[in-house]
Amino acid sequence: MCVCVSVSVCVCVSVCVCVCVCVCVCRFKTFPCAAVEVKNEPILSFKEGSHERVELLKALASLKGRTEEIPCVVGDEHVWTKDIRYQLSPFNHSHKVAKFCYADKELINKAIAASVAARKEWDLKPVEDRAQIIFKAADVISGPRRAEILAKTMIGQGKTVVQAEIDAAAELIDFFRFNAKHAIELQRQQPLDAEGSTNTLLYRGLEGFVAAVAPFNFTAIGGNLAGTPALMGNVVLWKPSDTAMSASYSVYKILRECGMPPNIIQFLPADGPVFGDAVTASEHLAGINFTGSMPTFKRLWKQVAQNLDIYRTFPRLAGGQERSSLSLSSSPSVKLGQMGILYPPLLLCCLFLSKAGVVNTQSSSATKRFTH
Ligand SMILES: *[C@@H]1O[C@H](CO)[C@@H](O)[C@H](O)[C@H]1NC(C)=O
Ligand SMILES: *[C@@H]1O[C@H](CO)[C@@H](O)[C@H](O)[C@H]1NC(C)=O
Ligand SMILES: *[C@@H]1O[C@H](CO)[C@@H](O)[C@H](O)[C@H]1NC(C)=O
Repeated sequence: MCVCVSVSVCVCVSVCVCVCVCVCVCRFKTFPCAAVEVKNEPILSFKEGSHERVELLKALASLKGRTEEIPCVVGDEHVWTKDIRYQLSPFNHSHKVAKFCYADKELINKAIAASVAARKEWDLKPVEDRAQIIFKAADVISGPRRAEILAKTMIGQGKTVVQAEIDAAAELIDFFRFNAKHAIELQRQQPLDAEGSTNTLLYRGLEGFVAAVAPFNFTAIGGNLAGTPALMGNVVLWKPSDTAMSASYSVYKILRECGMPPNIIQFLPADGPVFGDAVTASEHLAGINFTGSMPTFKRLWKQVAQNLDIYRTFPRLAGGQERSSLSLSSSPSVKLGQMGILYPPLLLCCLFLSKAGVVNTQSSSATKRFTH
């Protein structure tokens, strides 16, 4: 519990996101902290003659008959393997929405090595800096790139405009803004100082990489599964779903354009079992953030259990799934018989923080240990 007694500086990054530094009186200790105000993204109505409708029709027309080429991206390198795949439009199977390729084991291992090498620098950045990237991506999706993401979600995942708007715009933007706000606010929670000593709690990412395995029909969840661990100081291998490839790639590119450095999120379309086998076989696996079918999540969990002796840490597993059966007759490229979506309503960010070190400034060796 913090009470703001005086506001000293406010920096506004957009109309609705302001970061204010204020002097706070906290129940735990007196500590300068940030207050961030965000609001739910309004759901647009796309009425005849509205700006959003004009923009969306333009974006839909520009995708007509087009096949987007989507490589695997590791660092800044665009890689094409020989295993070429296509994302088909669910309502017109002769329209190839995207041509992409599956990452093989070697490429996944290369991505792991590059991520782990980039991890420390990213984790040591102040959470405010990481949050700014996510706030900016939300603003870009809310504004100039909204129509593009909506059109790709409609054509690639067979959604109506209303379904696309609540998923790819409203939900994704809210995930990004609220998660970034909560990440900044989390830092406020600090231990008490004792007589003659100052105590500080450092919130740190996990010591390894997080694998983000995304569902077939949600643009928002894909972006959240990969974006949120990165926000918290982690490096991420993102396996987008074959059937949400085109919209997912746009989200990835927007994150990069908004300042996400290379190697923090690797974009890796892949065969499910190949990806699962490769990430669970790495000693650096630190977490899996998953949304999809129960059998797939169980398979990953069992593999992690079997490999427990090889890991440098205990991998954190977070998954949303449901047991319901679903016929995917509209999409020939999805072979799973079961697919369920149910994502935890709570921000699971704490699960993806490694042991937060309590640093007593009287002990310099402790400070060293915990900041590395
Ligand atoms: C389906 O896609 C193909 C290839 O882009 C296109 O030629 C055709 O006109 C589309 N069919 C309909 C009904 O839109
Ligand atoms: C995705 O599919 C699941 C399973 O059928 C369904 O419950 C959910 O409503 C779908 N979500 C969206 C955003 O289309
Ligand atoms: C994991 O994914 C879920 C969506 O399924 C999301 O709500 C949550 O924030 C993610 N957790 C982290 C730490 O990224």
